[in-house]
Amino acid sequence: MRTKLIAGNWKMNNNVSDSLKLVNELNDLIKGEINAEILVCPPFTALYAVKQKLENSIIKLGAQNMHFESNGAFTGEISPIMLKDIGADFVIIGHSERRQYFNETDDLVNLKVKAALTNGIKPILCVGETLEQRERNMQEETVKNQLINGLKDIDDKNMNNVVVAYEPIWAIGTGRTATSIQANEMAYFIRDTIKDLYSLNISQNLLILYGGSVKGSNAKELMSQSDIDGALVGGASLKAGEFVSIIQNAMQ
Ligand code: PGA
Repeated sequence: MRTKLIAGNWKMNNNVSDSLKLVNELNDLIKGEINAEILVCPPFTALYAVKQKLENSIIKLGAQNMHFESNGAFTGEISPIMLKDIGADFVIIGHSERRQYFNETDDLVNLKVKAALTNGIKPILCVGETLEQRERNMQEETVKNQLINGLKDIDDKNMNNVVVAYEPIWAIGTGRTATSIQANEMAYFIRDTIKDLYSLNISQNLLILYGGSVKGSNAKELMSQSDIDGALVGGASLKAGEFVSIIQNAMQ
């Protein structure tokens, strides 16, 4: 039985005080028995401050990116050791915005996934096709290559700590969501690919998130699909009420 994971990717939004306000609101709203894992991924500058508010909270902490090296002359970068030090549980790797604007390749993504696992941080590996690739019916080929290359040299044991997020690029921040059928078809395809690359058992335990314009009003339909185990939420994670509405709908 896979426990749902609802993750908020705040992207380059929220200074420290905005972040604290948001996490305090979430702590107030998310109480009691919750049958899901909840994660927030603030910008680097707010990670430490937010972590201090999560001591007695069920909400977990994640970063949005990291370098693959442990330390050294990499001006401007943040290492997995630094993230572990401030208590990050997860890190988003290979988000399409990083691939698109910062030229992250599958090889770089693979180095980062491996470094996260080595340091005990769970990577959320993002995959997904462009609109052009979908129009040419290349979505499965694209995602399969991202999985094969992004997960290169990751053994069975470490695979148990990997989360995959399917985020079709044409659905991110556009208000245009994949239909629940499209999203579930791809989630199924991802699980099947992992079964071929690893084993049935690993594929059945793998958490597969959907991301791309998830909001309270579409969360129930998307999250009730057989192979979708949660959401990676951008815009709608910046408002406590909307994020909580996604969590509530996802659990129904
Ligand atoms: P969105 O972003 O929910 O704003 O579409 C999702 C993401 O980029 O992770």
